[in-house]
Formats: sequence, C-alpha cells, structure tokens
Amino acid sequence: MKKFYIETFGCQMNAHDSEKVIVTLTGEGYSQVATPDEADLVLYNTCSIRDKAEQKVYARLQDFKKRKDKIVGVLGCVAQQEGEKIFERAPHVGLVAGSASYNLLPQMLVQIEAGNRRVTGLSLDTDDTFEVPYTKRDNPHKAFLTIIEGCSKSCAYCVVPMTRGPERSRTSASVFEEARNLVADGYSEITLLGQNVNSYRDPSEAGLDFATLLREIGEIDGLKRVRFTTSHPRDFVKEIVDAIDSNPVLCNHIHLPVQSGSTAVLDRMQRLYTRDEYLRQIEWMKNAKREITITSDIIVGFPGETEADFESTLRLLDEVEYDAIFSFKYSQRPNTPALQYADHMTEEEKSRRLTIVQEHQRQIQIPRNAAYIGRVEEVLVDGYNKATQQWLGKNTQHKTIAFGHAVMPAPKDDGTTLEGSYLNVRVTRSGPNSLSGEAVV
Ligand code: 5AD
Ligand code: SF4
Repeated sequence: MKKFYIETFGCQMNAHDSEKVIVTLTGEGYSQVATPDEADLVLYNTCSIRDKAEQKVYARLQDFKKRKDKIVGVLGCVAQQEGEKIFERAPHVGLVAGSASYNLLPQMLVQIEAGNRRVTGLSLDTDDTFEVPYTKRDNPHKAFLTIIEGCSKSCAYCVVPMTRGPERSRTSASVFEEARNLVADGYSEITLLGQNVNSYRDPSEAGLDFATLLREIGEIDGLKRVRFTTSHPRDFVKEIVDAIDSNPVLCNHIHLPVQSGSTAVLDRMQRLYTRDEYLRQIEWMKNAKREITITSDIIVGFPGETEADFESTLRLLDEVEYDAIFSFKYSQRPNTPALQYADHMTEEEKSRRLTIVQEHQRQIQIPRNAAYIGRVEEVLVDGYNKATQQWLGKNTQHKTIAFGHAVMPAPKDDGTTLEGSYLNVRVTRSGPNSLSGEAVV
C-alpha cells in the first residue's frame, strides 16, 4: 500500500480541499499516515496570501532535501503562484499542482508512479469545480461544503484570483444533494465555502443567487446550523440579512471584510465600494430583528495609507463595533497591481499601526463580551480543553464559550463525550477574547 502524508496551510477553502484530496488519493489506493517519515508521498497544501505563509512552506521543503526515498508534492496557492520555479528552488520536489487542477490528481499520480520526476498541474483555464463522491472530514458534526471556487475580483493586494482562478459556481442541485447527504450522515452544522460566496450564481437553469440558495439550504430537515464564508461587500445584498432574520437555522454571524475604513484606500485597493456603502450594509445587520455578530479583516500599511486614512479605519472600528477582527500588515505579493504603487511603508510603521489597531479593537471587545454575562447561550460542543478542564463550544454567533458541566465534568474513559451536542450555557465571565460559564443542567 502506498502511503501519503498531507499538511495543510491557509484558509478553510484549503482545509476543505485537503479533505477532498485525501478522498481522491484514497480512491487511487493510497493510505494516509500521520507523519511524513512513514510516507512515500509527502504533500503540502500551501497558502501564499502573505509572504510569511509562503516562507513557512519553503522551510518545510528544506526538511526533505536529502530524503530521496520520498516524493514531495506542493499543492495549493504557492504551487499555482510559483509554478515550475518551485523545482528550481527545491529540486527534490516531484509534484506541483494548483487547486484548479485537483480533478487531474489521479492522472498526475499515474505519471509519478511511472517514474516521471516533475509532474505539474497548473492550468487555470477550467470550468471545473472539484467535486468528490464523499469527503473525508475529521469533525463528525460540522462540515464544509464548497458552493463556489475561485475569485474574479481584482483586489490590488491579493494573489487569490491568480492562485485559484476565476469564479466557478456549483449547480444548486449538487449543493443540495451534498447538504442532504451530510445531514443523513449525522452532520448538524454546514459551512458554505467560497472565496466570495455572495457572487454565487447557480449555473443550471434554476439560476439561484446566494441569498436564495442560503434560504433553501436553511429549510433542509435535520440541519441545525448553516454558516458561510467569506463575503465580499461589493456583492453583499440585503436579502442575505433578510434570510438570516427569517430562519434561526441560518447563523447570525456575518464576516464582512472591510480591509480599510478610508474610501481613498479602498479605491486604490480596487475594492469596488466606499466606506459609506459598507456602513449601509452594516446598518442592515444592526437593524435586523436577530442580533447579528459582525467580524472583519483589516489590512494596515497599504501603500500610500496616510495617518488620516489609518485614523478612518480606527473610527470605522468604533462605528461598527465588530465582535472580532483579523488584522494584517500589508504584504507585497508577486504579480499584484499594488506592487507597482508608490509609497510602500516600512515594516516598523506597519507594525506600529497593527499594534494600534489590535489594541483599539481589544478595547471594543471588552464591553461587548461583558454584555453576555448572565445570558444563556446555546452552544454546539466542539471539544474539551484538558489544561483548563473546560468544555468548548460555539454559539450561533460564532462566539467560543468555555464551560463547566456539573454532571459530566470531563470526557469519560469509555469515549463518552459531550462533543456534537447542543447545550445551554450560562455565561458568567468574559474577557476581551473569551466567554466562559456553566452548562445549565
Ligand atoms: N497582505 C496582507 N493581508 C492580505 N490579505 C489578503 N492579501 C493580503 C496581503 N497581500 C488579507 C485580507 C483578506 C484576508 C484573508 O487576508 O484581509 O481578507
Ligand atoms: Fe491562502 Fe488565499 Fe490560497 Fe486560502 S485562497 S490558501 S488564504 S492564498
């Protein structure tokens, strides 16, 4: 039996791609092993969103320089971005394939087995979406489900349109079928995935848009929670908020990356919306009957970001009062328009701004989380933290809550666990990034 090892970097799209790659390889007679040492084929599913992520991959590849007994494969975004250049930098690599070529993995494996030393899958010219008959998922309760692949936007800083190719939506029929199969297999939470789920457009005659798809998935019997990620404000319509407002199965959390609070910077980023347009979308959420949590991504230190632009981002944080943000220093990426821009900032200045943004947001989160004290929240139990001896779960708003349970303080030796169950938890404590409490039993 041929053995493979796979390590995944990057976003949820990549994590889910790896789940599908595992199924594909298993179908070709390979078995998955837990360490690279045991494997004949070592795969890295890579991320190139920022330079740091990319460097991590090259560091991994160094580990295998002298191991001639193994074939090393680079998959995902670094593979697509760097292509055959990877062979020059890491001559021991035998396979380089981007996510738009995964349908061809079986053929690529045949070539590798035939002794071909440099196999590539790098074409982006495809209408294909990567669908497999079932998916290897580690969590038996929560599943990812891809609805759209690729991205056809052209944000000036971003590699994704180049690494994942143009947008391709799956048919609504195949999405519904997979969702129903997941429920039949015992999954109670589904996260719909895509680089920009809002621009989903059913390629079949039904022609559903994202809001309608979301509504219909929310009607599937037996499904408790539906999430989606990630959204682009340009394609975000009020119907999405209305759908969430009318069906509690659709989780009341929206991740709507703004990137900057300055319209001038948004314009140079080619984000295709203004600060005011974005704030109008935030209003839809704030005016909803359900309490929707809002999270975002922020880039600081984009070329030409003035002190006043940066201030606008801080004021936007004040205005929106996000529940959480992911903030990043701008990182120069190959072949992106922003590389040509003037006024790139020093690392020191980017770091300074990042610290300020993070501290600013921390101050916003402290009272927001404190307002949960005394509330009873339903969580889906995710796991157990041995160090703190607390169970962990998420509420529908995607807030993690750590909690004690009087009847079952820990998982039992016979494997009995609370994981996968929905429990009510009374929140008793909060911090800037955390909530904790006691299960109501
Ligand atoms: N530099 C820094 N952050 C980036 N992101 C995307 N590209 C870059 C880049 N070149 C961030 C954006 C995006 C998130 C996934 O990563 O905020 O929303
Ligand atoms: Fe990283 Fe973006 Fe590729 Fe996801 S799509 S793996 S975040 S570069």
